[in-house]
Order: sequence, then structure tokens, then C-alpha cells
Amino acid sequence: MTPAPPAGPDRSGPPGVPGLAAALPESLPESPLEELADERLRRAGVRLLLKRDDLLHPAVPGNKWRKLLPNLVEARAAGLGAVLTFGGAYSNHLRATAAAGRAAGLRTVGVVRGDELRGRPLNPSLAQAASWGMELDFLGRADWRQRESASVLEPLLRRHGPALVVPEGGSNAAGVRGCLSLGQELAESEASVVCCSVGTGGTLAGLAAGLTSRQFALGYGALRHAPLEAETAALQLAAFGRRTGNWRIDDGHHFGGYGRTTPALTAFAQDFLTRHGIALDLSYEAKAMFGLFTGLGEGILRRGTTVAFLIAG
Ligand SMILES: Cc1ncc(COP(=O)(O)O)c(C=O)c1O
Repeated sequence: MTPAPPAGPDRSGPPGVPGLAAALPESLPESPLEELADERLRRAGVRLLLKRDDLLHPAVPGNKWRKLLPNLVEARAAGLGAVLTFGGAYSNHLRATAAAGRAAGLRTVGVVRGDELRGRPLNPSLAQAASWGMELDFLGRADWRQRESASVLEPLLRRHGPALVVPEGGSNAAGVRGCLSLGQELAESEASVVCCSVGTGGTLAGLAAGLTSRQFALGYGALRHAPLEAETAALQLAAFGRRTGNWRIDDGHHFGGYGRTTPALTAFAQDFLTRHGIALDLSYEAKAMFGLFTGLGEGILRRGTTVAFLIAG
């Protein structure tokens, strides 16, 4: 049974975002796989197939849908009328949760890192989430570090009411299992290597588990100083009871860490946009694509290889 939307912010569907007010889908359609024609690839003898998860929905791109859908279903099944989750001030995940929650008829609460933002005008990303009905709350840095502890969660749930708590990035066991389909969709493809960007590791964890034994997943870390390998392995353990051996993380292309960029990275992304008409997310996919192009012709990206690259949003 779909819980009735509660009183509060208008949830009837914002103008100009197609499909947002539609009901929660039972399952997701397959995202397209498109070959990229680029002379640098031709010279290196590598074929590159783009897995266009970014095209699945205008407001809830693929890896977000894959991770959120099982969580929204779980919230409904548990009779909870709301989902509470976490993210930074420009979090793609918060916006996606606001949109998906709206489609599901669930209230959403976005807990934002940075108490100093409270009471200030919202940036465009948070304003978009709020316009889709998300209630925003803010945590100082110390509470943020303890955000999943009872001492931080209980006051949040008292303020906003009972909710399914979903971690940052939507990466819990249910979210990781939701990303299994990503690997399964690529299992029949010609790709022997699948590349993706890594933030929390949830996408890589699920994707790798869905691949066949002839395929290998290479994640590019977008964060610095984060134990991404251990976190991804822990997510696989939580979701599937084991770590699959078919993936690794390249930590040489974080460009200074989350949200950081360099002139070389922005120039690469701009050139990619000019050549291919695809705007790579600077925090994630641009870094991973830069890493891929830098490694062309070497190691597992050697001549003769077909690579699939996930564009998650
Ligand atoms: C566009 C984009 N690509 C990649 C990722 C990384 O996904 P994950 O956090 O599952 O590692 C994210 C994170 O949400 C993202 O927004």
C-alpha cells in the first residue's frame, strides 16, 4: 500500500521535470550502451562503450535509482512514511533522493554537512531538493563524523519523525544489491573491463558482483584519504556475504580530493564535451575518464581490450 503523502511541502510535482510525479517504477529499464568514437582510442587499439546510466531519468540518474529503489521499497514495506539521508551541500544523492521520494509518495529529509549553512540562502542544488519537498537539516563537522550514532540520529528522528535512515550516497546493503543489475546488464556485452568512478564504493560493489568471471571492474577513487578499498569490500560483505575478487580501485586520479579540480581536469572535461557532447560530472566521471585515457594501452587497458565506462550521472 502506498502511504498517503503527508501534509507539508507541496508534493504535486514541480514544473519542468518530466516523470517526477509518476509512481515508483517496479523495476528499471536497461540503460543504453553506446560506443564512443575517438581517435585516441583508435590509436591505442581500445574500444570504449559508454554505459549511459545518466540517461535513465532527468532527476534521478541511474546509479541513484539503482541504490534508492530498494530502499524506498523497504521504507514502504516497513510502513515508514519517510526516508532520512545525508550529503554535502552539492550532493547529487540528496537531490536524487528528494526526486525519488516524491515519486514514491514518501517524505524525504536531507541532512547536510555544515551547520554554518543553516539559515543561509540555499545553493541551487539544495534549493532544487527543497523545491521537491525535501526537509533540510544541518550538522556541524563533529556531529557529521558521528552521524550514524544514536546520539546524533535520535534528535534528528525526533525533529523529523520516524524515517528509514539511508547512508550517504545510498550505499547500504540494499543499495548495493540494487547495483547488481548494472553488472548484469554488462555481462552480455563485449567489455572485459568495466570502469566507474568511486565515491562511497556502493556502485562498484554491486556492479562487480553482477559481472561474469571473464570481466574485471576498475574503480577510480574520487576521494582522498578515504579507505575506499576497505569500504567497498565491507559493502560487498554486507550485501552478498563475500568480497568478489574481480575489482580494484585506482587511487591516483582524485585530483586533490572530493570536489577538488585542477586546470588539467577542467580542460579535459571541456575538450570531452566539445568532442562528444557529453558533460562529465567534474567530481566523479571526469576524474575517472581522465584516468582511463591516461592509462590507455597499458595494463588491463592494453591494445585489443573492450572497456565499458559507467556514466552514473
Ligand atoms: C555522478 C556520480 N558518479 C559516481 C558516483 C559514485 O558512486 P558511489 O558513491 O556508489 O561510489 C556518484 C555518487 O553518488 C555520483 O554522483
